[in-house]
Amino acid sequence: MSAPLLAVKDLSMRFGGLLAVDGIAFDVAPQEVFAIIGPNGAGKTTVFNCISGFYKPTTGAIALAGKSIAGHSSHHVANEGVVRTFQNVRLFKTMTVLENLLVAQHRHHQPPPLSGLFNTRRYRESEQLKISNALKWLDVMELRQYANREAGNLAYGHQRRLEIARCMITEPRLLMLDEPAAGLNPQEKKELQQLIDRLRREYGVTVLLIEHDMGLVMGVSERILVMEYGRPIALGVPEAIRNDERVIKAYLGEA
Ligand SMILES: Nc1ncnc2c1ncn2[C@@H]1O[C@H](COP(=O)(O)OP(=O)(O)O)[C@@H](O)[C@H]1O
Ligand SMILES: [Mg+2]
Repeated sequence: MSAPLLAVKDLSMRFGGLLAVDGIAFDVAPQEVFAIIGPNGAGKTTVFNCISGFYKPTTGAIALAGKSIAGHSSHHVANEGVVRTFQNVRLFKTMTVLENLLVAQHRHHQPPPLSGLFNTRRYRESEQLKISNALKWLDVMELRQYANREAGNLAYGHQRRLEIARCMITEPRLLMLDEPAAGLNPQEKKELQQLIDRLRREYGVTVLLIEHDMGLVMGVSERILVMEYGRPIALGVPEAIRNDERVIKAYLGEA
């Protein structure tokens, strides 16, 4: 197996008296789709918050391609190529769809300071590049026809896709999706599964996925970590997880 893109060891996160994450460890290989599942409150989003720099973990090591990112700011972690979506859609709702993708690129392709003021050729070229990039991603996500729509007025499924586009346009190494299928209909879920697979194959991104929809999780993931009360209870390929006694009892049996 190749060296992991993401390595998480002995991760824990305490909120006062609550140990929300307790002894979590896993590796994600480059271009793998790795899922974290478990009942509500199991600590899945907290793991995401620790990796993406929103929380400073109480204990543990987090390394991206061998470089420690544990406890670094979310800004720093994003600059290292780790991007995420949230359980609730977070777009700039009063901006257009296109503008959302332009803003997302500010971190990249940064023109030299003051060049905008003098409208230099380099500035115009960098703005043009941002627009063509944005249009490319609108095509990939089949959102081109909504380019000038206010993001907040898009259908929910389209808002979800725009969020993923906003992540992908920064050319991330690790894409973290927190319940991306929540609120989608069966057809949209199927399309999401194909999209995740395509992003991995065509754009080489590694995917860390939190998801409740078992069809999607089993269909798209190479390996799955199951959490319960902050603890890991199983880690393995979909077939093994599906047949794991503890998992069935803790989680799958719940449905
Ligand atoms: N910022 C916080 N402060 C206090 N408790 C929190 C905080 N974030 C999450 N928790 C608690 O940690 C536990 C795990 O939450 P979370 O990671 O959101 O679970 P999941 O995503 O698996 O549903 C829950 O009991 C939740 O209430
Ligand atoms: Mg959550």
